[in-house]
Amino acid sequence: MSTRAQLEKLKRDIEEHNHRYYVLNAPRLGDREYDYRLRQLEAIEAEHPEWITPDSPTQRVGAKASGKFPPVTHDVPMISLQNAMNWNEVVAFDERVRKGLETQDSIEYVCEPKIDGLSVSVKYRQGKFMQAATRGDGQVGEDVTANVKTIRSLPMTLAKPLTIEVRGEVYMPRSEHQKHPELANPRNAAAGGIRQLDPAKTDGLGLRVFFYQCFQEGMALHADELALLRALHLPVIEDARVCAGLEAVKKYLDAWDKKRQHLDYEVDGVVIKVNDFKAQKELGFTTKNPRWAVAFKFPAEEVITTLKAIRIQVGRTGVLTPVADLEPVRVAGAMVQHATLHNADEIERLGVAPGKKVVLVRSGEVIPKVIGLAPGQSRSAKGFDFPKKCPDCGAEVLREDGEATQYRCSGSACPAQLRGRLLHFVGRHAMDIEGLGDALVDQIITQAWVHDPGDLYVLTQMQLAGLERMGEKSAQNVMDALQQSKQRPFARVLFALGIPHVGEHVAELLVERFNSIEALTAAGEEALMQVDGVGPQIAQSVCTTALQSSFKKLIAKLKTAGVQLAAQKKQLRSRKLEGLTFVVTGTLSRYSRDEAQALIKDHGGKTAGSVSKQTDYVLAGEAAGSKLDKARNLGVRVIDQETFETLLRG
Ligand code: IVH
Repeated sequence: MSTRAQLEKLKRDIEEHNHRYYVLNAPRLGDREYDYRLRQLEAIEAEHPEWITPDSPTQRVGAKASGKFPPVTHDVPMISLQNAMNWNEVVAFDERVRKGLETQDSIEYVCEPKIDGLSVSVKYRQGKFMQAATRGDGQVGEDVTANVKTIRSLPMTLAKPLTIEVRGEVYMPRSEHQKHPELANPRNAAAGGIRQLDPAKTDGLGLRVFFYQCFQEGMALHADELALLRALHLPVIEDARVCAGLEAVKKYLDAWDKKRQHLDYEVDGVVIKVNDFKAQKELGFTTKNPRWAVAFKFPAEEVITTLKAIRIQVGRTGVLTPVADLEPVRVAGAMVQHATLHNADEIERLGVAPGKKVVLVRSGEVIPKVIGLAPGQSRSAKGFDFPKKCPDCGAEVLREDGEATQYRCSGSACPAQLRGRLLHFVGRHAMDIEGLGDALVDQIITQAWVHDPGDLYVLTQMQLAGLERMGEKSAQNVMDALQQSKQRPFARVLFALGIPHVGEHVAELLVERFNSIEALTAAGEEALMQVDGVGPQIAQSVCTTALQSSFKKLIAKLKTAGVQLAAQKKQLRSRKLEGLTFVVTGTLSRYSRDEAQALIKDHGGKTAGSVSKQTDYVLAGEAAGSKLDKARNLGVRVIDQETFETLLRG
């Protein structure tokens, strides 16, 4: 055999061993035989460096530490799943699916254990590993190719030379996590591991990966997709099962709840997916999640610990929240010493007080919560007295009796409120300004440099560099991050503003209808409530906030800074539907409801979730229900698919 052929054979043997060892769990080579081959390969490559290719097993940890993760825009957004916290919510999911598909028949699902880790998207070109990216905000992730490459269960070469994108989860086995007691829990360990600046550090962490999705034409079922992944020698979770109907799903969940304690990885739930792709397509997506899948979460773990004291925290809207200081305790893989107690009513309801033993729960990423007194503890006779003055600024505390009694700091310059607002503004889901963490925010507040988030944009590098634990370099990094944040889309900015009741999702809904801050603040409650998903509480909150002079000042500052306060104009395909509002209902044969709505918007039209006098057309498919009746009552024009298409051709 020529040396070149020998080299190719060694590469194949090593790749096959990795597949057998990490994926099939059935190695044929012993450790020593494997090491021997790896060393032989290294020797040949040392003689012939021109033969080294990036997919060689010797190059797993080849890349130098770059210290950077360039952005990667996902071709298909990486979205997350809706959770089902108990069986009733699974039943409700199944009902939604059957309603969406307009069938009484039972649905075929695929159930897969959900491992808690970090989602990744991996690209292969003609069967060769090319790139790996994190999810990031779902649209844009980070290029973590060098780090993901160190994961031995990830093949460098697929069994077929396909160009394919696959998605999965990187995780840390429990046995590896035990070797790193400094890492809070396996999920954080995986996330931290993948974002190591030096791939050699990732390499030592024993991370694993499995895949559950690929984008390949011509498949009918999700089960086919899993079979393809397996055939390509990619690691796939072994225990995925097709479950015909809800009964079978229930059995699967029960079996897993018992089994999961004994595994070498943390399974925090089960993902339930509609198997049939045609049905998946028909169900489509909400703005956040697919309608064809749900993540069932196992019940949270509970522990008992002592409540040491109740502390008051002032949030960004001034609401005083009681926080429990606890005797540190390990629960669901993390050490916990604080938990929120929500409000006065909650403390009263729980009957807890300092010195009492309490029950604490924590599940996955959910914030720890005190749920009651430990068995045998007597209820505290007296409730909790809220302070009359704000512990942070001394302003008077006002009592508000709403759904739950709330206490609010009335101070207009309260540092705790400002702190909360700033931290919300710079947060990962808002303006995502890296480097502006708790400690730095505290310092710039103490210096009185910042009175609202708008002031962040007039900070200078000189100012920051002079602060404690800051150098020229970190100051410059913060300046760069601030500069970059000016590119965040309007919906993110709107969320970052922290208007009460305007979360990420609502911000997106609002921006879809009102494409600038001017349009939004001028809209009025009536017009705001026209948006599907916006009720009186949100509408009122937007209107009240818009009138506040502090809000107007903030907007002016952000405008001067060049932050995006209007939506980027989408390229319209035409303006044929301009000025027209549609409601889409029932099942259309040629497109899903989402696709029809996208078409309407692409042609300049608007869509609404409910029929009103403002509706111009109701586009109705098969088996349209109450919306159709309402349209008839109001005398709104009802059209079918064919008429709709004539409008488009118009
Ligand atoms: S499917 C569009 N399947 O859980 C559907 N996700 O919020 C994409 N995960 O971000 C997700 N195991 O990182 C899917 N078998 C599995 C999964 C899984 C873990 C993660 C994934 C996702 C999150 C759900």
